[in-house]
Amino acid sequence: MQPAQLLAMLAAGEPISGTSLADQGGVTRAAIWKQIEALRARGVPIEARAAAGYRLPWPLQMLDAKQIRTALPAVLLRRLGALEVHWELDSTSSELQRRGAVAKDLSILLAETQTAGRGRRGRTWLSPPGLNLYMSCLKRFESGFAALSGLSLAIGVIVLRALESLGIAGAGLKWPNDLLAIEDGRPGGKLGGILVELSGEYQGPCAAIIGIGLNLRLTPALQAQAGQPACDLAMLAGGTPPDRNRVAAALIAGLIEGLSQFERDGFAGFVADYARYDLLRDQPLQLSGALGMFGGIGAGVDGRGALQVRLADGSLCPIDSGDVTVRRA
Ligand code: BTN
Repeated sequence: MQPAQLLAMLAAGEPISGTSLADQGGVTRAAIWKQIEALRARGVPIEARAAAGYRLPWPLQMLDAKQIRTALPAVLLRRLGALEVHWELDSTSSELQRRGAVAKDLSILLAETQTAGRGRRGRTWLSPPGLNLYMSCLKRFESGFAALSGLSLAIGVIVLRALESLGIAGAGLKWPNDLLAIEDGRPGGKLGGILVELSGEYQGPCAAIIGIGLNLRLTPALQAQAGQPACDLAMLAGGTPPDRNRVAAALIAGLIEGLSQFERDGFAGFVADYARYDLLRDQPLQLSGALGMFGGIGAGVDGRGALQVRLADGSLCPIDSGDVTVRRA
């Protein structure tokens, strides 16, 4: 039996005995036990009760390309390239990169789990099966890299607009494009991340592979592994996150619309919304990067997407890359 099949059998959140799982899967109870252990080792919190059997602490929806398509308006479906849902990939972004020139514009790959999920700055992205969303989108541009400044910030705006369309508020952006929960009006735990990778020509045809990781359910063990404060959509939505296929469809709809807006207007079309979601504005910041370590106050972003930092002498310093942390008062 494949792990995807076992997770699908547990997805309702109802207890099922090992015998019943083995019968349904046509395998031995020992084989079921081995797969349960393998899913647990990857972060799925499968509980075992002596009398009742195995169960998940809550129901989950397995990703399903047909359900995602059904949730998309016809006008957007026509513009979508490929839409694939995989059980496991090393990384949805690496797989799209391997497809290279053969992948159609606006192709989307989703995976239930990634074995080598990649974050920014060479970090790994924890990708346990069935709990969160891991998605990559290929977008081709004719304009060259030069016109793409601010693209990764615009993607942050697109993701937050999509969450708002699902009725989820309480999230914002930490420059350049971390999705964070808002706690007491300040930047809180990390809800998701965005990795944009460009290839092609500086002034000609080029492509962006846009990777989005969004936490829907984090267990305490996964939060501990995250290495930084983390949050999930379940917490923002009062305990139960929206259906995973609905979240995927909202992100895809947002990407199709938002990327054509970006193609038309560039980052200028996103500046106002970025300001609305900006969690660093007026915050005391610590910056480290090419200019060394220094402090300042967040003062928004400029038209190219550079972070504006107000220094002690009152001047504004634009930051194009680097690590930012909010200093605790
Ligand atoms: C970050 O470090 O904040 C960016 C995380 C991006 C993770 C996503 S998950 C889908 C896609 N595939 C990857 O390997 N990474 C991105």
